Amino acid sequence: MLPQDFLYQLKAANPIEQVMGSYVRLIRAGSVYKCNCPFHSEKTPSCVVYAQSQDQHFYCFGCHVGGDVITFIMKIENVGYMDAVQTLADRAGLTVPRDNSDNGEARRRMRLLELNREAARYYYKMLTGPDKRGLAYLKGRALTPETIKKFGLGYAGEGWDGLAGAMQQKGFTEDELVAANLCMRGKNDRLRDRFHSRVMFPIFDQRGSVIAFGGRTLEPDGKPKYLNSTDTAVYNKRRHLYNINIAAKTQSKRVILAEGYMDVISICQGGFSNVIASLGTALTVEQCRLLQQHGFEEVIIAYDDDFAGRDATMRSLKSIRAVGLRAFRLLLHDAKDPDEYIKKFGAGRFRILLEEAPDAIEFELSQAKAGTDTDTEGGTVQALQNAVQVLAEIENDLEREVYLSRTAAEYGISQDILKAQVEQAIKRKQKTQKQEQWRALTNAPMLPDPVAPDAAGKMRYYKAEELILAYLFRFPDELPLVEQIIPPEEFVTDLHRRIYRHLAGKLHEGYPFSISLFSGDFTPDEMGRITGIEAEYSMLREFSEKSVRDCAAILREEIINAQDADRLGDDDWSAQMEQLRRKKLST
Ligand code: UTP
Ligand code: MN
Repeated sequence: MLPQDFLYQLKAANPIEQVMGSYVRLIRAGSVYKCNCPFHSEKTPSCVVYAQSQDQHFYCFGCHVGGDVITFIMKIENVGYMDAVQTLADRAGLTVPRDNSDNGEARRRMRLLELNREAARYYYKMLTGPDKRGLAYLKGRALTPETIKKFGLGYAGEGWDGLAGAMQQKGFTEDELVAANLCMRGKNDRLRDRFHSRVMFPIFDQRGSVIAFGGRTLEPDGKPKYLNSTDTAVYNKRRHLYNINIAAKTQSKRVILAEGYMDVISICQGGFSNVIASLGTALTVEQCRLLQQHGFEEVIIAYDDDFAGRDATMRSLKSIRAVGLRAFRLLLHDAKDPDEYIKKFGAGRFRILLEEAPDAIEFELSQAKAGTDTDTEGGTVQALQNAVQVLAEIENDLEREVYLSRTAAEYGISQDILKAQVEQAIKRKQKTQKQEQWRALTNAPMLPDPVAPDAAGKMRYYKAEELILAYLFRFPDELPLVEQIIPPEEFVTDLHRRIYRHLAGKLHEGYPFSISLFSGDFTPDEMGRITGIEAEYSMLREFSEKSVRDCAAILREEIINAQDADRLGDDDWSAQMEQLRRKKLST
């Protein structure tokens, strides 16, 4: 266990709005901040950051994730408690007191980041070394010295172990070089560099750390054209985006999605910094969430206008729509990609192209015909069926109407019939959505709840315990009274019993109540529940000792004999609590 005063110091040095602000765009809302929750997809912010309270924490009313600043790092970086503490300590320049628990993992990650940074420096230096082929290549692609510097581009020379040697001299081990995917073990276990004779593109994360590399061959037909780092302890190609560090700074609502390194760089050099690329795959849902976290709302797809580009557009669109971002599709004329377009026609024309990029729906409607032969009846029906699916995805009624009448005219069929088809498709879609929502809502009582598995079928106990805990959170001084009414032993569900015990222990030791009291001993999922108890019940204005007694009675099953026992089935109980909360919502 870490000393409590260190944890206070750590939190004081890492204000939650600053830490979270480097991952998501926070909007001030009175005494709190709000943001689009980084842990689930949403269009309107339901994640609240309580930054001003003594007890800084966040809670998402949508997906019930919450906790203190340490929990946030655990969740967003997907690391353990000690790693999160280490990350925050590094951020604030503090030293974590040595103890017996293992923080080796955090150290290793730190070392990999340092190694990547040193490697990027090395490659950058090689660019201006005796072998000028890398620099010549980049110049040949019309990159300015400023651009080369801005993107930290470099060169991996011809040698087989130049990087390995230089990094070992700096104190990095063979294992570290292999773990970073910068070197491989060859014959006789000899270490050799993974990249040679390639220009190097460092990949940065949102905070500007080098996490991976892409290397382009200098040969016109070299294979593979781009060699990329595989996933490592600090890099996951499905979760990171090329150039997100620069794009995020633009605070723009629109982001250009390019196909790869060179397009991004040349679009940037053309004056549009709000550009990113996914890394060797179509855009993933995780990457779309990352875009949302940075406040982007619209994605302009600027992929090549070839088969691969169209295919990737369709796949990326799925992810973009899944998280509720809006999509546009850039239409390039007379150029194979944005890089070439800008070189041929200039940045000014490219800006116009961006402004004129049609909604992705147009693109999808045109794609509905792809692969069908619209000269035959069968082909036409197929194309129309595809079009119906596209039209059904349009959320705005007016917009849907416009595309609908256009499609009907294009295929020469009755608008009413097409409309009926689309409406049917929408109904089907809504039905599945409703079913999913219903399933999500009733999740807790019906399916085992992974955070509180033993609460299944005991929802009214679970809720009763929750209310007692909420009371304690609000009035920690009343602990002796509550303990007298109902001690932790009488709690039915394991999670709540643990929360109660832990809290009672801390309060007896004299700590003031705070969400942070829990973060070392409960998992991030459990932290979500704990924060939820505080947040969800904070709206309850009248909160008396009587409610605690009532809940205690429920737990002791005394209420079973009461006249309204039947009415208090699991569902009724939840419904009643809900009603109570609504009625008593403070104004
Ligand atoms: P392209 O082949 O379109 O490359 O691949 P490009 O960006 O136009 O490159 P230049 O202009 O010829 O230098 C697009 C993206 O696909 C990934 C890279 O991210 C690349 O930027 N890719 C491509 C690979 O990862 N490996 C490859 O072998 C090829
Ligand atoms: Mn290309």
